[in-house]
Amino acid sequence: MQKAGVGVVVFLVLLVLSINTSLSRQQPTINNAYTLAFTVVADSVDKQTGLIMAPGYTLVKQNCVRCHSPKLITDKRATRDGWLATIRWMQQTQGLWDLGKAEPEILDYLAKNYAPTNEGRRPPLKSIEWYKL
Ligand code: HEC
Repeated sequence: MQKAGVGVVVFLVLLVLSINTSLSRQQPTINNAYTLAFTVVADSVDKQTGLIMAPGYTLVKQNCVRCHSPKLITDKRATRDGWLATIRWMQQTQGLWDLGKAEPEILDYLAKNYAPTNEGRRPPLKSIEWYKL
């Protein structure tokens, strides 16, 4: 009779243990999904320079990070004309070379990935029914 009792206790302990391990085994799956999502985000940005990896990115990496930190680029937002003006300014005063055939591709990349953001005030409220106080 007592032997059976011990058997039941052992069985229950083993059951609890196996539930525990199967629960903790699920943990890495959640972690993996998280890591996967994180890697996808990290992979679209070049780890060395912080530049967004999109068409034209290699040309920018070749031409634009030799004299200064890429942060100057990733922190700036400008239109295509704005970027062109920056390039011309560097060419006229800072010794930036003629970019040749690479220039339009570099400008496309910059204008697309580092375009001005439209973060400003919220638009004015319209159609409000004001009431007299
Ligand atoms: C020959 C050297 C040189 C190269 C190559 C170069 N730059 Fe510059 N750039 C400079 C210098 C010098 C400054 C001024 C840095 C400072 O103020 O500390 C500058 C400043 C900048 C700035 C900040 C000024 C502003 O108007 O916002 C940006 C953005 C920039 N460069 C982008 C680029 C891009 C894009 C390229 C590739 C097409 C590039 N640079 C290649 C020399 C260079």
